[in-house]
Amino acid sequence: MCGIVGYIGSDEGRDILIDGLRRLEYRGYDSAGIAMVGPDSRLQIVRCEGKLNGLESKLKDFPVSGTVGVAHTRWATHGRPSEQNAHPHRCGPFALVHNGIIENYAVLKEQLQANGHCFSSQTDTEVIVALLCREWEEVNDYEQAVRNTLKKLKGSYAVVIVNELEPDRLVAARKESPLILGFTEKAFFLASDVPAILPYTRQVVYLNDEEVVFVSRSGYRIESLVDGSLRAPVPHRVDWDPIMAEKAGYKHFMLKEIYEQPRAVIDTFRSVVDLETKQVSFPELNVDKALLEKIDRVCLVACGTSYHAALVAKYMLESLCRVTVEVDLASEFRSRDPVLDDKVLLLVISQSGETADTRAALKEGLDKGAHCRAIVNVVGSSIARMAQGVIYTHAGPEIGVASTKAFTTQLVALYLFATYWAAETGRLPREKIEQCIQDLVELPGKMEKILSDTSTISAWARKYKDFKDFLYLARGALYPIALEGALKLKEISYIHAEGYAAGEMKHGPIALIDVEMPVMVLLRQGPLFEKMISNIQEVKARDGIILALIEGEPSEIIGPAENQFIIHPSSEWLSPVLFSLPLQLLAYHVAVLRGTDVDQPRNLAKSVTVE
Ligand code: AGP
Repeated sequence: MCGIVGYIGSDEGRDILIDGLRRLEYRGYDSAGIAMVGPDSRLQIVRCEGKLNGLESKLKDFPVSGTVGVAHTRWATHGRPSEQNAHPHRCGPFALVHNGIIENYAVLKEQLQANGHCFSSQTDTEVIVALLCREWEEVNDYEQAVRNTLKKLKGSYAVVIVNELEPDRLVAARKESPLILGFTEKAFFLASDVPAILPYTRQVVYLNDEEVVFVSRSGYRIESLVDGSLRAPVPHRVDWDPIMAEKAGYKHFMLKEIYEQPRAVIDTFRSVVDLETKQVSFPELNVDKALLEKIDRVCLVACGTSYHAALVAKYMLESLCRVTVEVDLASEFRSRDPVLDDKVLLLVISQSGETADTRAALKEGLDKGAHCRAIVNVVGSSIARMAQGVIYTHAGPEIGVASTKAFTTQLVALYLFATYWAAETGRLPREKIEQCIQDLVELPGKMEKILSDTSTISAWARKYKDFKDFLYLARGALYPIALEGALKLKEISYIHAEGYAAGEMKHGPIALIDVEMPVMVLLRQGPLFEKMISNIQEVKARDGIILALIEGEPSEIIGPAENQFIIHPSSEWLSPVLFSLPLQLLAYHVAVLRGTDVDQPRNLAKSVTVE
């Protein structure tokens, strides 16, 4: 997510703005910029690709100053990291920064271009400020131009606007992207997150969705974009310390990112699904029906958690699209001289877009003439630039080393890709496609329900935190989730944990079962349910401890209710997302109780950029 800081007050604001960006660096970013209206009432804008140090060194050569301004750190969503794509974006007297995703930016951009507007960036943000310019030229009223502009936007936004013709004002608005207003007797602050303004004030007002705030040097007015009504909220006093504030009050980034998953899933599917027509489109994937019909094999390649997402995708793609799918660990794929040709679609999956083995696997595919695409969370990363097309997950920066929201958004991206493939090739009828989209739209609500009551998971963590070994068992598309749950536990709590296909029990793992071996089983209604029940009975017959994630309702056969966590029913291909959540939380709570470094577990790096 991008970082936004706005300031208007009696003091010089440049250092306040830059300092605010520094306090938002934890959010991750790839470019930065600042705009101020100087003493000469002229807009001054300085931007740069890369980190804040680069911006500060540029400011030595191109100084800005003033008592009103806005600054921004960008986490690229549309358009790769570059100075041109960095915010603030300018049009006429306006400079604007934005956090969020404008879904209809392409249509608006075409309309503006048809009216003669020339764009200098690839961003959706520049479309907002160009639209504001046009609206202002038409109505010649700043506030009304802002209202008209915001009402034409679809998607999510937090925007702050500086106007060199009105240097005594800041205007800001939000819809599904956080924005707060802070103030003292002599200054007003706007920010995407509390840490940016904590050194200056703890008095804040949280803007609500579809509200615009008009800020002057002596006050502010909060107005609804829906009905124009005014709101005068009671200010809230923030009592977080700065470190807590960076994690939005959560104890660890990992926990914050676990709870960000419903939002991340929404951002991911809204970037490619038209919710009115229920059409899926991947503008940056460079894939069409002709190519899909030419493909006779898909190779999914990744590492770690991303590899587990690839394993889930195998079940989905083969079932929905009837195409042969192979899944490989990148480290193995790159060294086995794989057979590839122009009938192969090589799809690599990587949160960071920098994993060395995955990059090498992608190069292997490119060298051998496969059609190479990537699913990546970081815009402009190496893998995103090497691939011939990309699907971006919109999880935002993932700071915790243990991947959580990146994983569930990868599952959603793969689900959408399978749906797109089935629609383009006619493998599924229209009504089935629409049902797939509807199931996805309902998913975030089901995720919120699971995240809203985790008392069972916390109790399991307290009871089993000192066990030395765990076994995770599942079948079908939940089998990779058993692997993922085991990886989560081992990588942050350092307990040995192993995921296994439940059908393999009699081929070895059953020898491990005894009173010292908690066995996590994942089951959902369907043809595999009874087989899972048989596995559970085998475990219980050997005094194994059963913990169950079960879809629908508890089952007496499994054991006491307190050993069962209920998962809300969902479609077969989205249940892996729901089953992942309690396993992430179990790993988290066990690790916290064991006192390990949850966000930076020993020996691990967030991105394995070396072999
Ligand atoms: C997952 O929790 C781990 N942090 C790790 O397995 C990770 O998924 C793997 O290193 C792949 O990283 P990538 O998705 O950035 O390529």
